[in-house]
Amino acid sequence: MINVNENYLKLRGSYLFSEIAKRVNAYSAANPDKKIIRLGIGDVTQPLSPSVIKALHAAVDEMADASTFRGYAPDLGYEFLRNAIAKNDYVDRGCDISPDEIFVSDGAKCDCGNIQEIFGSDAKVAVCDPVYPVYVDTNVMAGRAGDFDEALGLWNRIIYMPCTKDNGFAPALPAEVPDLIYLCFPNNPTGATITKAQLQEWVDYANKNGSVILYDAAYEAYISEEDVPHSIYECEGAKECAIELRSFSKNAGFTGLRLGFTVIPKELKRGGTALHGLWARRHGTKYNGAPYIVQRAGEAVYSESGKAETKEQIAYYMKNAKTILDGLKAAGYEVSGGVNAPYIWLKTPEGLNSWEFFDELLTKANVVGTPGVGFGPSGEGYFRLTAFGQHEATAEALERIKNL
Ligand code: MLT
Repeated sequence: MINVNENYLKLRGSYLFSEIAKRVNAYSAANPDKKIIRLGIGDVTQPLSPSVIKALHAAVDEMADASTFRGYAPDLGYEFLRNAIAKNDYVDRGCDISPDEIFVSDGAKCDCGNIQEIFGSDAKVAVCDPVYPVYVDTNVMAGRAGDFDEALGLWNRIIYMPCTKDNGFAPALPAEVPDLIYLCFPNNPTGATITKAQLQEWVDYANKNGSVILYDAAYEAYISEEDVPHSIYECEGAKECAIELRSFSKNAGFTGLRLGFTVIPKELKRGGTALHGLWARRHGTKYNGAPYIVQRAGEAVYSESGKAETKEQIAYYMKNAKTILDGLKAAGYEVSGGVNAPYIWLKTPEGLNSWEFFDELLTKANVVGTPGVGFGPSGEGYFRLTAFGQHEATAEALERIKNL
């Protein structure tokens, strides 16, 4: 009889956001009259922008005509999109990234889950704590995480880098040197950022030790302050040690459309092997590309009108972030994030842990958020709210929280 991959049996419960959906659905079924406001998963609520919709329609029409129809996409993605990404996200910001170092995909979640495949199964992985659960779970599936220590709430082969109030939610360089370092800035879940000088320290550390940094910059568009790097390639030497992951979900509302990309500089080698070639091989074998119409929609995000519309959407969500930050502060909560990121990180009220506060908020205020401990043990006693709701619903949620 075939054996299953036993690493999957080690996974803890269900995926965080599936678990939350399950609990909310159960509450909703038992209380059908309650109007629930969802500020849990970071899913957008504003429609796709007019430029994106126009590009989608035009591309659909092309698919209806034999002379403009497209079949399989090129392995790395269409050149028109990779050119737009290289120019707007990198060259215009002073980063020397070329279109053939960009791999277009159907989203950053898949990429950050799959990229670990090109590294050795014995690679030592470091993650922030709290952390976006995909980084840890995919390494559990691959057998790199070791065993789960129930008492500590940690995997014993993973190097955790606590991000706490004391260090401003910015991880310290780990004493034990990892092979792979996952960093996400602006951060999910805490909304914290690091400066360019701090990021440079990580790049220098990785280059000195031969580690590779997987830099998740999915929330880059929300940066509002100076001196917060938009890309790791703004740092000297990053092309020799870093892979960057980006998404169209949070900046342009593509959570349902699906589009993202991964940058692997040609210089990035380990053990004499270029990682670019390995990912290209993996991409070619296991992936057939994001749909043509979606790549055209992505290209439209970089048009002049697309950029203006995207900016407006981000401003819309950041207005929510301010509503949440101001409202929580007025209600006496300790809060952070929400300035360069669409996530607000709050300390739960005295005497309530993360899941207890989740239940309290769900049952008494009918507001859904995400328990901090779901992102790791250092998230215990914290809670995440997202700014991706609609203005009216967000304002109402805050009124309800204030009245708790
Ligand atoms: C989150 O809520 O953390 C994100 O929406 C999850 C994701 O982007 O996959």
